[in-house]
Amino acid sequence: MTGRIIGLGSFLPEKILTNDDLAQFVETNDEWIRERTGITQRHISDPVNEKTSIMACKAAVMAVKDAGIDPHDIDLIVTASTTPDLVFPSLSCTVQEAVGATEECGCFDVNSACPGWVAAFNAAESFIESGNAGLVLVVGAECPSNFLDWTDRGICILFGDGAGAAVLKASDGKRNEFIMRTSCIRGRCLRCENARQPYRRDEEGFEKATTFNMNGREVFRFAVTEVPKIITDLSAKYNFSLDDVDMFVLHQANARIIEATSKKLKIPIEKFPMNIQYTGNTSSASIPILMKELKDSGRLKSGMKLVMASFGAGLTWDANYIEF
Ligand SMILES: CC(C)(COP(=O)(O)OP(=O)(O)OC[C@H]1O[C@@H](n2cnc3c(N)ncnc32)[C@H](O)[C@@H]1OP(=O)(O)O)[C@@H](O)C(=O)NCCC(=O)NCCS
Repeated sequence: MTGRIIGLGSFLPEKILTNDDLAQFVETNDEWIRERTGITQRHISDPVNEKTSIMACKAAVMAVKDAGIDPHDIDLIVTASTTPDLVFPSLSCTVQEAVGATEECGCFDVNSACPGWVAAFNAAESFIESGNAGLVLVVGAECPSNFLDWTDRGICILFGDGAGAAVLKASDGKRNEFIMRTSCIRGRCLRCENARQPYRRDEEGFEKATTFNMNGREVFRFAVTEVPKIITDLSAKYNFSLDDVDMFVLHQANARIIEATSKKLKIPIEKFPMNIQYTGNTSSASIPILMKELKDSGRLKSGMKLVMASFGAGLTWDANYIEF
């Protein structure tokens, strides 16, 4: 058995922050941001009504409805988030209550930064393949806006808030294949310290370290090298041709990274859908938000072969080959 996506949901906060809005409080401009990243706007959540858990629940409820399932039949909920509003219990527990799953439904979270949703998807797949779950809800929800230094133009322009979710059902058919990789040694270029370390409160630079910190050039180099490579390795390991893939659904971090991947793989850019223009980088929520949009627009159809790939802090990166 393998996990087939039978339902999708997503949520983007109402408030939009354009590049021009950003230019009001940091030294930047629309042209610079668009040329370097492809982003024109991002959504910023309301701190009370659209916090991470609320966004996660909204996307999850929508995915369950889209799947047309009875929530009592959900065996497992796996939620990816690096920016939850609760340290514990896990975000998945809050989602359990919101969707109306029973106490027979297991819940846990995955903290794997931007590739978190893909990691959660792979955990779900493994539960399904081993026969330990038949119906799994996989959620990605992030509120990077809470963790940004809004005076640092090198990073605050990149991110947006949002959530996405999918329901996976045990089905016959092509197995979902994946590769996951990590390099902690190279991970210093993308980092955020937990603010709750009382003994470090007075340490110089500590407060800044509790926001997203990044060496943009290093992360860029890592992404344009490793993403094409892991996709090529995936096709070699599982013996399929990249020409037979209908769509490459990549983490929406930077349009130039996606364009570079298309170029290196010699696959037309039309096969690399993007919505980063108006979402920014929503971290682990980016792939399910994009998938929901593709399904709603009729571009993503049942039976299509997809490669998903994501990358981020860790450094971690992964790639999957699935049939939708
Ligand atoms: C962040 C990123 C857009 C910066 O683009 P870049 O071309 O590498 O730009 P640099 O950081 O080298 O900066 C170039 C110049 O632009 C300036 N600059 C940086 N941010 C700017 C901004 N928002 N507006 C205007 N100028 C800016 C820099 O200060 C620098 O000026 P200098 O040459 O006078 O020193 C790019 O490196 C990137 O997208 N990296 C990947 C990040 C990512 O995806 N992270 C998440 C992974 S999940």
